[in-house]
Amino acid sequence: MSSKDSTKRTLIVAFSLCVVCSIIVSGTAVVLKPMQDANRILDRNKNILSAAGLFDSQQDGDELVAERFSQFSTYVIDLNEQRVLDTQQLEQLQIDIGGYDQRLVINDPKYSEALERQEDIANIKRRVIYPMIYVVAQDEEIETIVVPVSGYGLWGILYGFLALEGDANTVKGLAFYELKETPGLGAEVRNPRWTALWPGKKIYDEAGDVGLRVIKGQGSGDYQIDGLSGATLTSRGVDNLIQYWLGDDAYGPILAQLRETGL
Ligand SMILES: Cc1cc2nc3c(=O)[nH]c(=O)nc-3n(C[C@H](O)[C@H](O)[C@H](O)COP(=O)(O)O)c2cc1C
Repeated sequence: MSSKDSTKRTLIVAFSLCVVCSIIVSGTAVVLKPMQDANRILDRNKNILSAAGLFDSQQDGDELVAERFSQFSTYVIDLNEQRVLDTQQLEQLQIDIGGYDQRLVINDPKYSEALERQEDIANIKRRVIYPMIYVVAQDEEIETIVVPVSGYGLWGILYGFLALEGDANTVKGLAFYELKETPGLGAEVRNPRWTALWPGKKIYDEAGDVGLRVIKGQGSGDYQIDGLSGATLTSRGVDNLIQYWLGDDAYGPILAQLRETGL
């Protein structure tokens, strides 16, 4: 055996190769991290704009996102205390609005919590305690409120944004940006023909309860949306997530507050 084939030499070469490769991989991850973060935020802002009817991904380019999103103010709310967090509270919680991503803290007990089975109408198991909401206001008059929503469909959790008019009651739009539903069936929740059914519908009935329902068959009036045919289970998931997120345990009280006293 030549000295080139010795066990020691083989181990040294293998080890050096591992070190070099790991440096390249971790170096690339570090270099690409700011780009990934920027893309994640771009994507989120695009989805918020889409829900509010301010961005059409078929026609509009990414360069329009920053300018259009600049009219939104971002707030973090506390779902347990039902209040909008001020700067001091955000600092105490170490939440920096610019870098905060509520999807990334879903397993962190400081920022999220497990839901009891009977309250978990949307079947999400855990929820973030401090979600971000996005508001457009002119001279203190609220024009648009966008809230994140999520709920289990047939194959997994659907994530989206629901946009409301300034009355915190009339739907402006709904856009799902992540789902595992079947293309052509449950994934039709993203079909513009279906999402076009949402604007103008009302959330709360006269008693102040969530009156909006996704029903099997043809919906009518202010409070009904047609379920997707062939995708009743996904439609039920969307119905459940509306009942949960707009209800008393989630955004209901905050939205009532915004409606009555503004920000
Ligand atoms: C391969 C496969 C994928 C399906 N994907 C979905 C889906 O994503 N969402 C859904 O609601 N139903 C889906 N279904 C259909 C459901 O099993 C169920 O039949 C349907 O939700 C009933 O809707 P309907 O009462 O409107 O016919 C799928 C069925 C099969 C066989």
